[in-house]
Amino acid sequence: MKLIFATANRHKLQEAQEILGPGFELSTPADAGLTEDIPETGNSLKDNSLQKAKYIHDRLGADCFADDSGLEVDALDGAPGVHTARYAGPGRDSDANMDKLLHELAMKGPGASRKARFHTWATLIMGGEVHCFEGVMEGRIAFEKAGCGGFGYDPVFIPDACPDRTVAELPEEFKNSISHRGNALRALAGYLASLD
Ligand code: IMP
Repeated sequence: MKLIFATANRHKLQEAQEILGPGFELSTPADAGLTEDIPETGNSLKDNSLQKAKYIHDRLGADCFADDSGLEVDALDGAPGVHTARYAGPGRDSDANMDKLLHELAMKGPGASRKARFHTWATLIMGGEVHCFEGVMEGRIAFEKAGCGGFGYDPVFIPDACPDRTVAELPEEFKNSISHRGNALRALAGYLASLD
């Protein structure tokens, strides 16, 4: 089955292909000649994933899916949430985002909860019908960065599934098996498999 994944990120494409398996032939909007930036102006991760999937479906008319992820920290009332990618401001890198996060949490005092989760919403549009799937990875925010694997906030996120190290210290395959994005894509894959 052919499906377009609304991403420009080859790494995410490869990860999704591994999760969905060889029965699916994934491609990107760019492969179909659509190279413009896909808008992400929603007020929630779910809205953004829906907006991206609809944008692709409206232009290419093909079965497709999109995802949107964010980090939710309890002591910060769910921030950075939908602002995760640009928490420290436009054009700032992951180090700046993590520095801001550690600073904001330090300001809450030494007894503040470090509990947090990565959250993904994935939206599939198939035969014109919309289906939404959710994936979560629970954990807590470390007091300092550790590890050099992964991307984004991985060096400051300690998953409950492996509470003695950060995600940046875990093998990629293991991370994919417990991650928010992996869980959302496995839910999507389970739905597709149920159609057979
Ligand atoms: P996206 O929706 O997948 O582009 O994710 C938005 C932002 O969330 C990224 O720019 C990262 O900062 C952060 N993020 C998403 N997934 C992960 C992850 O698996 N590890 C660390 N950071 C992530």
